[in-house]
This record gives sequence, structure tokens and C-alpha cells, in this order.
Amino acid sequence: MAAVDSRGEVLDVQALPLPYFLLRVRVAAMEPAEPGQFVMVAGANRPEPYLRRAFSVYDQEAAADGSLVISLLGKVIGRGTEALAACLPGERIPVLGPLGTGFHSVAARSPGYDGSGSGRAALVAGGIGSAGLGLLAQALARAGRSFDFFYGGRSAEDLVEAETFRRLSERTGGRLVKTTEDGSAGKRGLITAPLEAGLRASAGYTTVCTCGPHGLMAAVAGIAAASGVAGEAATETPMGCGYGACLGCAVTLKNGGYALCCRQGPVFRLDEVAW
Ligand SMILES: Cc1cc2nc3c(=O)[nH]c(=O)nc-3n(C[C@H](O)[C@H](O)[C@H](O)COP(=O)(O)OP(=O)(O)OC[C@H]3O[C@@H](n4cnc5c(N)ncnc54)[C@H](O)[C@@H]3O)c2cc1C
Ligand code: FES
Repeated sequence: MAAVDSRGEVLDVQALPLPYFLLRVRVAAMEPAEPGQFVMVAGANRPEPYLRRAFSVYDQEAAADGSLVISLLGKVIGRGTEALAACLPGERIPVLGPLGTGFHSVAARSPGYDGSGSGRAALVAGGIGSAGLGLLAQALARAGRSFDFFYGGRSAEDLVEAETFRRLSERTGGRLVKTTEDGSAGKRGLITAPLEAGLRASAGYTTVCTCGPHGLMAAVAGIAAASGVAGEAATETPMGCGYGACLGCAVTLKNGGYALCCRQGPVFRLDEVAW
């Protein structure tokens, strides 16, 4: 599906517990994103010229007038995310998308790979990485494919969309598993511990899909490989353009080569990436 560069209308910005926010934008011309795809966006009032920022499409809904309303789940980190969190209803902001290769599409370039196919899934998010798994969780729930959602963060505030993922996973007969490093929600510790236990206990997972900090995804790749379970990760690199022109988003592959995170990714098979 072709990416379109247009100006979206900000509908609202919901301040979740800081530094998180949910931005809803109406985009007239954009096609729906696949799970794992992203847009390049910028706030309306930029403090100075800067490059657009990459945001996963967290949620989307076709509006009655034919436009698409996309939701972006964000965490304020620096100037770009600050400008997005400060958007006001009615402002128009640049939106380019949908971009990249999503969760369902990785199988197309992977002969013999059955990770996206059928069976039970484990979705593993670290903090704001949950944004990259929003559409995937919805797609699995719609398809009636059972999944458990493993949600880890430093503290309770980082599990900002826990209720949404609890509802979606339970709808498929699965469950939400929470951990925090300070013990303020779920079990104290890292989310890799219950994931590893689940894989060891033969919980029937045929796929592990993850999005979060690099260290988490690397650990998930190791745990999945040790259990002989295939999987995919929505990776993140700094991005200049988002569509293959600046060559600034290389991901190192296990085969010694490189791939562009914005074109061949952001979703890669866990066993493709040199973590
Ligand atoms: C494919 C893709 C999808 C993404 N989806 C989302 C999303 O859905 N929601 C979301 O909030 N973010 C998402 N990001 C990350 C988002 O684009 C960055 O948070 C953003 O680029 C930071 O921009 P900034 O201008 O606020 O910070 P900058 O001014 O660019 O950076 C401020 C400081 O934070 C550091 N930094 C930059 N990015 C990160 C990061 N990701 N983690 C930790 N430190 C960082 C920088 O090195 C710098 O020191 C995604 C990134 C990619 C590549
Ligand atoms: S971000 Fe420019 S080539 Fe990938």
C-alpha cells in the first residue's frame, strides 16, 4: 500500500500519566496501516526546523467521511515528542504513511518461516514499545487467535495501556502478565522472566512478537531461540526520512549484511537481526 504525505487534523491529545500521551489525528488520504507499520509526523508548532519523528500506528478507525483516524501512543523524550504532545485540537500536522514492513508481511520474504501463521502467540512489550503492538493485538483478537500479553516497565506508569491489552488478550482466552522493576505493578522484575517460564512450561506458543528497548528485544530473541519458537520484533533506529532516501537507519543482520529499518523493517524476524 502506498504511503501518502498529507496534513492531518489533530482531533485531541489525551495526557496519560506523564510522560505518556495519546494523539488522535484525522488523515484524509491515508490507507489503513498493517500491524507494525508507522508514520513520520511532526508537531504543528516546531521550536525550530527538525526532522519528523517515527511513530507506530497504535490504533486506527475509518471515519464515516472516508478519512482515517489514527491514534499515536507517545512518550515525551525530547523536542519532537514534546511538540507532538503539545498539539491542540484543530491544528494541522504533517503525516507521511503508512510506512515500512509490518508483522504480517515479514513471512512474505521468508521462505519456510511459519512464525506469523497460526497457533498461540506471546506478545512482549517494554514500556512505550506497547505502541508497536497495538494493531497486532487487535488483529489477533479479531481473528480469534489466542495470545498472552507480557507488559514490562520500570514502574506502574510505564504500563500505560495495560487495561486495553488485558481486555484484548482475555477476549482470545489469553491473559495480561505485568512486571515492573520497582514492584509497583505486577511482579517485581523483568518481563523476560515470566516469558521464559511460559516458554519452558510449554504454554503452546508458536510465535513471539516483541517491541521495546533494544536490550529487551535482544533478550526475547535469545529466549525464543532457546525454546525453538519463531518470532518477530518491531525495531527502532533513529530515522531521517522514513522511506529509504537518507540511508540513516541501518539494522545489522546476522548474515553480515544491513537492512533499512524504514523499508525492510521496522519488523524483522527475531533470527534475522544481529542483536
Ligand atoms: C519505527 C519507529 C516507531 C516508533 N514508534 C514510536 C511510538 O509509537 N511512540 C513513541 O513515543 N516513540 C516511537 N518511536 C520513537 C520516537 O520516534 C522517538 O522517541 C523520537 O524519535 C524521539 O524524538 P524526540 O525529538 O522527542 O527526541 P530527540 O530530541 O530526538 O532525542 C532526545 C534524547 O533521547 C534520545 N532518544 C531518542 N529516541 C529515543 C528512544 N526511542 N528511546 C530512548 N532514547 C531516545 C536521543 O538520543 C536524545 O538523547 C518510534 C521510532 C521508530 C524508529
Ligand atoms: S530513515 Fe531514511 S533511509 Fe531509513
